[in-house]
Amino acid sequence: MRARTLTSIAVATGAAAVGYAAVIERNWFALRHQEVPVLPPGTEPLRVLHISDLHLTPGRHRLMAFVRSLGGLEPDLVVNTGDSIASTEAVGPLIDSLGPLLDRPGVFVYGSNDLYSPKPKNPARYLWRTSSGEHTTEEPDLPWEKLGGEMSAAGWLDLNNKRGHLTVNGLDIAFAGVHDPHSARDRYDQVAGPADPAAALRIGVLHAPEPSVLDRFTADGYELILAGHTHGGQLCVPGFGALVTNCGIDRGRVAGLSMNPQVARPDGKTSWLYVSAGLGTSPWAPARFACRPEATLLTLVPRPAS
Ligand SMILES: [Fe+2]
Repeated sequence: MRARTLTSIAVATGAAAVGYAAVIERNWFALRHQEVPVLPPGTEPLRVLHISDLHLTPGRHRLMAFVRSLGGLEPDLVVNTGDSIASTEAVGPLIDSLGPLLDRPGVFVYGSNDLYSPKPKNPARYLWRTSSGEHTTEEPDLPWEKLGGEMSAAGWLDLNNKRGHLTVNGLDIAFAGVHDPHSARDRYDQVAGPADPAAALRIGVLHAPEPSVLDRFTADGYELILAGHTHGGQLCVPGFGALVTNCGIDRGRVAGLSMNPQVARPDGKTSWLYVSAGLGTSPWAPARFACRPEATLLTLVPRPAS
């Protein structure tokens, strides 16, 4: 085969892949189901909807329709691990899309992208450097206070460097969360200390799953840690997976359920970690490949009696 023909085939294949990633897969939303054996023995299962990284702009009607459809799940609890908006005009559409989910018990933290408008940059740059440390000095230009105010007004618990409790289906859940470590806004010392031993379950919440912060949640006794940020790698290689995680966590835990094994909880066990691959992308990197946008319905079930 002539070199020119091979080049034409390569160019056509590349163009098809880019078109698929930007048009089809980016809008091919999935609802994952994951069971986590983390409740006290004899407890009824708890259904937790985990959403993350919507990066919503007002024109993303398919994304908004998918989020709106999640209300039909009637989860017991909703957890939003941040990067919800990507535009000054996105808070209204986001709140409208969440709709009936805001009537359920919920908790949230911010991601760095809730504070700063997305800026044009080489979409492949993340392959050789993370975006950590960007936005540590500028003034936020997105309406993060309005965003948090709307979710708080609906009754969702603000966990940005805060602790709190919710009673869900009669179960007392102790929470701790931090603002986004990716932009150095986490202040774990403000939530540090043993997780409430009287609660039926202890959950840690953050945006970027930085190992140093995960380890502190585990050492304080949080049995389940929920995070987002990685986008599951966003542009993955079939059969290989994510190329990068855009934070300190290893590629093997870029998305889905894993353990946080570096340190032990006070009871000698390890914590569960669930990292959401998220529902969106930066408007300046509008493509996902071999990594569908997702929300997750976590079913928390009793741990085996020991
Ligand atoms: Fe994100």
